[in-house]
Amino acid sequence: MSEIPPPNPLSEGIDATRRVPAGVLVVVGASGDLTARKLLPAIEQLSRRRLLAHSFAIVGVARTELTDDGFRQLMTDAVPDGDAAWTDLVKQSRYVTGDYSDPSTFTSLAKVITEVEAQIGASGNRTFYLATIPAVFEEVADGLGAAGLNRPPTADTSVRLVIEKPFGRDLDSARLLDTALHRTFDESQIYRIDHYLGKETVQNVLALRFANAIFEPLWNRSYIDHVQITVAESLGVEKRGGFYETAGALRDIVQNHVMQVLSLTLMEPPGSIDAQGIRDEKVKALRSVVIPTPEAVRADVVRAQYDSGWSEGKAVPAYREEPDVSPNSQTETYVAMKLMCDNWRWAGVPIYIRTGKRLPKRLTEVALQFHSVPHLAFGKAESRDLRPNALVLRIQPDEGVALRFGAKVPGQAFNVRDVLMDMSYGSAFMEDPPEAYERLLLDAMVGDPTLFIRSDEVDQAWQIVDPILEAWESRAVPLAGYAAGTWGPRQADQLIERDGRQWRTP
Ligand code: BG6
Repeated sequence: MSEIPPPNPLSEGIDATRRVPAGVLVVVGASGDLTARKLLPAIEQLSRRRLLAHSFAIVGVARTELTDDGFRQLMTDAVPDGDAAWTDLVKQSRYVTGDYSDPSTFTSLAKVITEVEAQIGASGNRTFYLATIPAVFEEVADGLGAAGLNRPPTADTSVRLVIEKPFGRDLDSARLLDTALHRTFDESQIYRIDHYLGKETVQNVLALRFANAIFEPLWNRSYIDHVQITVAESLGVEKRGGFYETAGALRDIVQNHVMQVLSLTLMEPPGSIDAQGIRDEKVKALRSVVIPTPEAVRADVVRAQYDSGWSEGKAVPAYREEPDVSPNSQTETYVAMKLMCDNWRWAGVPIYIRTGKRLPKRLTEVALQFHSVPHLAFGKAESRDLRPNALVLRIQPDEGVALRFGAKVPGQAFNVRDVLMDMSYGSAFMEDPPEAYERLLLDAMVGDPTLFIRSDEVDQAWQIVDPILEAWESRAVPLAGYAAGTWGPRQADQLIERDGRQWRTP
C-alpha cells in the first residue's frame, strides 16, 4: 500500500482519521449524468482534501463506447479546475466499454482492475458504484459475481457495492431486488444510498436530539402536539418526465427521503452512535408507524398533480404538458398525509407530511409543534399573536434550527407574541459543509455503513407506503389539482384543518 499524503487544511470538517486506503472505485454507468454531475466532483473534493490515498484510481464501465483517454477527458470536463492530485488520478483511471448483459464486460473489467491495481500499487480494496438505471442493478451484480468481483482478492481488503434509490417500485419488487443482490453480495457489503442522509442537517437531527439535555425530555407525546415534515420543491419535473411518470412523489420522495427523516425524528436514543445502534433504532421507529388501511388512505392521504401556474415570476406549464409526460397522466406530483406512530413515546401524536414539486419555494424542514400552555393567563386580545411553541429543524436551504416561543412585546401593555430564536449553520460554523455525495462516497470507501440504508429499513419503509400505492391503484383516491407556485391542493389543507391544526407557512 502506498503512503497516505499528509492532511491539508481543507480537510477540516471531515474526520481526518478516515482516509480512503489504496484502492479502486469502479463506477458502473460511468458515462452518465450522475457520474459527471455528482460523483466525479465529489471524488475530486475528497482528493483535494487529501482524503484519498495516492494509490487510488477510478475505473469507469458503461455501454457508451469510450477509450481510456475519452473517459479521462470526461473526467476533466466534469471537473475542469481540479488540482495536481486530481490530474494524477485522472491519468491513472481507465474505462471499459460493454453491455451489462454480456459476461465478457465483467471479465474485461476484472482484467483492467487487476492491471490498474498493479500499476498504482493497490492490493484489492474495491468499491463498485452502480450509477446506472435501477433496471440493471441485478444484471450488474450478477455480472460482477460471475467474474469473481464480489469477493475481495485478499484477506485484508474489502469489496463493497453502492447502489442508489429507487430500491424497487413496491414491496414485492424491493424484496426481489434484495434477494437478487444477496445472491452475490453479503448484506454487509451493500451500501444503499439515500442522499438525504448525506446532508449535514439531517445528521444534525441526531446531534440535536442526543447531544443535548434540553430537547429529549420534551421529545414525546406529553409535550408535542404534532409533527410536520415538509419537503417542498419549486422546480417541476424538468427533463425527467419519463422517469417521473413511473415514480410519482410517493415513490420518489416519501418512501425514501421522508421515511429517513421521519425515522431519525421518531427513533429512540441508540446505545451508541454507530451503524448498528442507529439503524436498529430507525427500523424500530418505522415498525411503530401505523400501516395505513384502505380507509385511512382515503381519509388521510391526498394526492395531487400540478397545473399550470407561476414559478419565480415565470409562467410555467402543467405537469401534463411537460416533456415525456402523458397528456392524461395520473401521476402525483404532490402528496400530503397523516401518519400515526403506535408506541409509548408517540401515541396520539399525528405526523403530517407533505411533499411536492412546483410549490412556492424549495424548503425541507421538520417542525415539532408543542402543546399550548394549559391555561393562558393573558387576555385574548393581548395574546392574539401568540402561537404554540415550535422547534423547527431547517434541513435546507438556509440550514438551521429555530425555536418559536412567546415573549412580551415591549411597551406599557402586557401583549405577548411569538419570537424566534434562530441558529443558522452559515453563521455558527462559517464553513461550507461537504456535499452529500462527498460524505457518502467517503463513508462507503472507508466502510462506515451508518448513513446507508439497511435492507430491513427499505423493507419497512415499503410496508408503510405499499398500502397507499395499492389503494391508489384501485383508484379509490382521486387525483386533485393545484396551480404551480401554490402550496398544494385545498384537500391538503382540509386534511390538517379537520384536526384543528394548520400547515406551517414557511
Ligand atoms: C431526488 C428525487 O431523490 O431528490 C428528485 O428523485 C428530487 O425528484 C431530489 O428533486 C431532491 O433532492 P434535494 O437534495 O434537492 O432535496
